[in-house]
Amino acid sequence: MLKKLNEIKTTALQQLQSLNDLQSLDSWRVSYLGRKGSLTQILRGLSSLKLEERKTVGAAANEIKTLLESNLQEKLQVVKEKELSLNADSMDVTLPGRAFSIGRLHPTTQTLRQIGEAFISMGFEIVEGPDVEWDYYNFEALNIPKDHPARDMWDTFWIDHQGPKPMLLRTHTSPMQIRVMEKREPPIRVIVPGMTYRYEATDATHESMFFQVEGFAVDKNITFADLKGTLFEFAKRLFGAERKARFRCDYFPFVEPGVEMAIDCFVCDGKGCRLCSHTGWIEIMGAGMIHPQVLKNVGYDSDIYSGFAFGLGVERIFMLRHGIDDIRLFYENDLRFLKQF
Ligand code: FA5
Repeated sequence: MLKKLNEIKTTALQQLQSLNDLQSLDSWRVSYLGRKGSLTQILRGLSSLKLEERKTVGAAANEIKTLLESNLQEKLQVVKEKELSLNADSMDVTLPGRAFSIGRLHPTTQTLRQIGEAFISMGFEIVEGPDVEWDYYNFEALNIPKDHPARDMWDTFWIDHQGPKPMLLRTHTSPMQIRVMEKREPPIRVIVPGMTYRYEATDATHESMFFQVEGFAVDKNITFADLKGTLFEFAKRLFGAERKARFRCDYFPFVEPGVEMAIDCFVCDGKGCRLCSHTGWIEIMGAGMIHPQVLKNVGYDSDIYSGFAFGLGVERIFMLRHGIDDIRLFYENDLRFLKQF
């Protein structure tokens, strides 16, 4: 009987070594350790043996049973790990691909980039500045002293209104004219994109947070003709070569003379329609020659240097180009609106 047990052990372990899949391991288990398996049969037949023989055969049979079971567990572990790694590496090339969901640039960013490209190609560089600004840069240095009625043009979010150095969220990008000129000597050709803030009720054409692009150039002999040439070229690049542009007088305390620039309506070609309020013209920005007092405020000699400056509203430009009738759509995060562009 002991000899038979040893034979079972040897063949069982040999067979086990050559098995490599879960199914054949299970058949192996059934044939040796299952209810009708060869080892189980021997254990069942122990009762017919004499007591002495029963003891030795029983002990040997149980030892072999434990050995086969532990070898089976080890092998199972190895085969399972192998199957897992095989599945991870395998790929069904017949499956349809999964489409990536790709985001896109926000309309404001798209417009900022187009405006940036137009001015960079004309020799301007981009500079950025702080959203939180001193009263000095936002107003004082721009020729808008305390209690000047021009302050009423800009409703303001104050951070510190009463202290010795009042601080606010910038109401326009013009303070960067001062910051850049303070640090550099002419020639300067700079544009400043940035968020601006005004404490005002929102409506279809007014937001309390919106983007502006400031631009200015300072050098010897800069004239109004340079301002006109630069802005007309910009309008052509952004709105089409056939566009006409118009300057009319306007007032900003930090420029003299000051102008409002409009382009002829690209929907009706200047004949008059809803978009241009039947005037044939659409206003796109404020501009002018930098006031001599502003040049003096940064220590430039206004007899030697002159410059022009302009400031435009970025969302309004996009609205004009795409016929959008409500500025509030820009920042509501409604994908139905944003995905169109
Ligand atoms: C200014 O802010 C001047 N700093 C512009 C300037 C710069 C003039 C340099 C001369 C020289 P104004 O307040 O008009 O000007 O604003 C400029 C542009 O910002 C407007 O033409 C408009 O397009 C946009 N804008 C103004 N207020 C709002 C608002 N509440 N919501 C959206 N866009 C606005």
